[in-house]
Amino acid sequence: MSTWPDDGAGEGLGAEAEAVARPRPATPTSLAELERRAAARRGQPAYGHDALIACDRLVRVFSTDGVEVQALQGLDLLVAEGELMALVGASGSGKSTLMNILAGLDIPTAGAATVAGRDLLTMDAGARLGYRRDVVGFVWQQTARNLLPYLTALQNVMLPMQLRGGRRRAARTKAAGELLSMLSLDHCRDRRPHQLSGGEQQRTAIAVALANTPSVLLADEPTGELDSHTAEQVFTAFRTANEELGTTIVIVTHDQTVANEVRRTVAIRDGRTSSEVLRRTERDATTGQESLVAREYAMLDRAGRLQLPTEYTSSLGMAHRVLLELETDHIGVWPDDTADGAAQGRGGGEDGDGDGDGDGDGDGSANGDEAGGTGKRD
Ligand SMILES: Nc1ncnc2c1ncn2[C@@H]1O[C@H](COP(=O)(O)OP(=O)(O)OP(=O)(O)O)[C@@H](O)[C@H]1O
Ligand SMILES: [Mg+2]
Repeated sequence: MSTWPDDGAGEGLGAEAEAVARPRPATPTSLAELERRAAARRGQPAYGHDALIACDRLVRVFSTDGVEVQALQGLDLLVAEGELMALVGASGSGKSTLMNILAGLDIPTAGAATVAGRDLLTMDAGARLGYRRDVVGFVWQQTARNLLPYLTALQNVMLPMQLRGGRRRAARTKAAGELLSMLSLDHCRDRRPHQLSGGEQQRTAIAVALANTPSVLLADEPTGELDSHTAEQVFTAFRTANEELGTTIVIVTHDQTVANEVRRTVAIRDGRTSSEVLRRTERDATTGQESLVAREYAMLDRAGRLQLPTEYTSSLGMAHRVLLELETDHIGVWPDDTADGAAQGRGGGEDGDGDGDGDGDGDGSANGDEAGGTGKRD
C-alpha cells in the first residue's frame, strides 16, 4: 500500500500537515533549532485562517450517569466561503454533535471552532444569540421542527426578520416573498405548514433559514423523511441558495444522491474526519468530452495521523503497526514484517477500527511495548 500527496490542489486537506516517515535522525534537537522552528511557526498564518468554517482538533465529550461518550475526538474540518458540501458517516459518528456546535447550540469540550470569524468557544450568551440569528441558518430533519404551525409560509419566513428588527413590515414582506419565489414556492405563500407537502415544508424551512441572509446554512438530514424525488427538489433548493445568494452550505446526509451531487463529501468516522470525496469536471483531451470524476482522499491531520480504510488494512492483515517508507513522490505503507507483527496481522485483522490511533507525536515510531501489550493473538 502506498500513499500519494493530494493531487486535487489540496482542497480541504490540511496543507500544513507534515508527512510522517521513518527512519528519522536520532540526534537531539538543539535549543537554537527549536527557537528557529518556533519563530518560523509564529510567522505562519493560523490553521484555517482563510476558511469560513474552521474546526481544529474539536473535542466533545458527553457525560451521563458517570459514563463518558467521546462524540468528537479531535475533528479537523475546513469549509471555504461559498462551498456547498456534504457530511456523511455512520450513525453515532458525531455528525449532529458537530452541526449543533456549528449552529451555536452546543459548546465543544476542547479544540477550536470558528465560523465567519466568530469563536464558538468563547462567545458569551448575547453573542451566541446574535450568532444564531444573523450568522447561521439551520434546517432540521423533522419537517415539523422547522416551521411554526399556526403561521403561513410567508409569515414563517418573516418571523426571523422581525426578531432581528430594523426593517419595515413592507420591506420584510417583499424580502420574504422574494425568497419564496427563488425557491419556487409562490403557491405556498399563504398556506400553513399542514397545507404543504413534506418537500414544500423543507423548502420553506430553507427560506426561513435564509431569512436574515446568514453566511452559513446548516442542514442535518434535511431529506431524511422524504422520498427520493422530493429529496431531489429539496436539494435543488439548497443549490439555488448557494448559487443565487452565495451562502456556504453544509448538509449532513445519508442520501447517496445528495452526497453525489456536491463537489466535496467529507466522511466522519468515530468523531473525526476520515476521508473525503472530491468531484471535478475533467475534459477528455482527445474527444473533448466533459465528465464528472470522483476521487476519494484520506484525511491527514496536523499531527500526521491518517485513517486507513478497513478494507485496505484487513486485506493486507495490517493491525496496530505498519512500516512506512518515504519514496520520492509517495509514502509506502507495508504490513509489519516482524514475527510478532505478522502474528498480530493474522489474528488482529478483526480489530479494523482503522482510527490510525497514532500518538500524534509525529515521529511515526513503532512502540513495541504498546503493540505487544494490546495486540490480539489467536
Ligand atoms: N446529549 C448527549 N448526551 C450523551 N451522549 C450523546 C449526546 N448527544 C450525542 N451523544 C452521543 O454522541 C455520539 C455521536 O452522536 P451524534 O448524534 O452526533 O451522531 P450522528 O452521527 O448524528 O448519528 P445519526 O446518523 O444517527 O444521526 C453517539 O454515541 C451519541 O450517543
Ligand atoms: Mg444525527
